[in-house]
Amino acid sequence: MKKIIIINGPNLNLLGKREPNIYGSLSFTDFFETVKEKYSNVNLEYFQSNIEGEIIDKLQTCGFEYDGIILNAAAYTHTSVGIGDAVKAIETPVVEVHISNTFSREAFRHQSFISPHSKGVILGFGLQSYELAIQSFINN
Ligand code: DQA
Repeated sequence: MKKIIIINGPNLNLLGKREPNIYGSLSFTDFFETVKEKYSNVNLEYFQSNIEGEIIDKLQTCGFEYDGIILNAAAYTHTSVGIGDAVKAIETPVVEVHISNTFSREAFRHQSFISPHSKGVILGFGLQSYELAIQSFINN
């Protein structure tokens, strides 16, 4: 069974309450429960942190062991050389995900330190972006 982890960055613990016009009204934990049931053919884990170093630690521990990492580094996407370097350093392929279409938003969201080192990028499909990333790992 493929082992895949979803790593979410800062403020994504507030999904459902945070700017629902952009991010929707479903909490991530509720979404994750339904996704786990739907994709019972994969071993799916979830980790969230508001702390940059904790995200780097998680990438390092999973990055030589898991079959896939789905990373929404949230605001750190646009600022963190450290997270970008961690994605580059590990062996496990990373699919970068965003709920919103970052290219239709402020200019500072158009830059990503993750994209150059990612297997692929999926954005703008709401929470479905995560499902598309799971499917990409199932199909490869
Ligand atoms: C986000 C987009 C980022 O620009 C923002 O800082 C987030 C969420 C998204 O999933 O759409 O926190 O990564």
